[in-house]
Amino acid sequence: MKVSRDVALSSLTTMRVGGRVPLVFEITNENDLTEAVATARAQSLPVFVLGGGTNVLAGQFHGAIILNRIRGIRGIGERIFRVGAGEVLDDVCAHFTEMGLSGMECMSGILGTVGGAVVQNSGAYGQDISQVLLEIEAYDMEADRFVKISNAEARLGYRSSIFKDVSERRYIITSVTVALRSEFVGQDELYFSLKNYLEKTSATNRSPSTLRDAVLQLRAEKLPSIEECATAGSFFKNPILSGDAAANWREKYPPESYSAMPDGQIKLFAGWLLDQCGLKGYESYGMQLYPKNALIAINKSANDLADIDKFTADVAAKVSSKFAVELEREPDTLTD
Ligand code: EPU
Repeated sequence: MKVSRDVALSSLTTMRVGGRVPLVFEITNENDLTEAVATARAQSLPVFVLGGGTNVLAGQFHGAIILNRIRGIRGIGERIFRVGAGEVLDDVCAHFTEMGLSGMECMSGILGTVGGAVVQNSGAYGQDISQVLLEIEAYDMEADRFVKISNAEARLGYRSSIFKDVSERRYIITSVTVALRSEFVGQDELYFSLKNYLEKTSATNRSPSTLRDAVLQLRAEKLPSIEECATAGSFFKNPILSGDAAANWREKYPPESYSAMPDGQIKLFAGWLLDQCGLKGYESYGMQLYPKNALIAINKSANDLADIDKFTADVAAKVSSKFAVELEREPDTLTD
């Protein structure tokens, strides 16, 4: 296991901010994991796990970072696979797509690792990890043993799960079991923007590789690459309204501002709200909302998390004063 000392968190996270951490473990198997946890404990250091660091905004953290690099994709049943939590999510999407299997092709191009994707139930274009996930294997730091957690027990919701709350992180995900399908995504299940794109390009089939190519193309048009920009993907969650608030919204605003959910709830598009406030390309505190897509924030010259916090409050206040909707930041925050 590779162990490093005094490492800048800005080098481990794609938003590229954060102080220095005393200890970093790069783990590739379960033994490394238990050893890393024991070493951190012996030094009374709190533990935080990073996959790709693509959805974490780091401040000062005087603890131990575990970089999860547990890899491997192994078939364990018919279209059922066990996948190491440290696998890069897009590599896994590519692998199943090449096998002609459906279920993760629309998640192509999402940043980060499989473990990270489970923590926040990552998804895009109508698919998210909860739809293929059977079971999670994790190390329970309270009980000091490896456990299995079912999909239902993980309570995966919109960008949420039992693993998400940073202050109560108890489990370290080591691998997941997923079930893929042989049937392609149905025409009615296709996410609206993907459907429009396929119609425009006159693509005739809905095979996993056709959808993967289309999704990668769509993403390239409106999302910056992490090689070129410091970013953490979507910067705000899409706010959910229910009851009267949802009904009032539907009366007042156009259908392109939201998508309908079960129980009369609606999910407002944060990108739309920001765009309507004229915030595409808006810059403050060294941060910028991406000119092609207002939902994405880029770190141009922010020095630290404090700058990002000020930028967040600034932007959220503009949306709040126009729409009376409070935006919540999407990436996790790592601090002491
Ligand atoms: N929109 C605007 N202006 C903008 C951005 C968006 O008007 O600047 C409008 C779009 O035209 C569209 C609607 O808002 O009608 C929704 O936009 P889009 O489909 O681009 O994004 P989303 O559905 O809100 C979610 C995920 C993305 C994921 C896309 C595609 C969240 C917070 N984000 O965005 O995930 O790629 O769906 O399925 O749920 C991520 O989580 O890091 C991420 C990139």
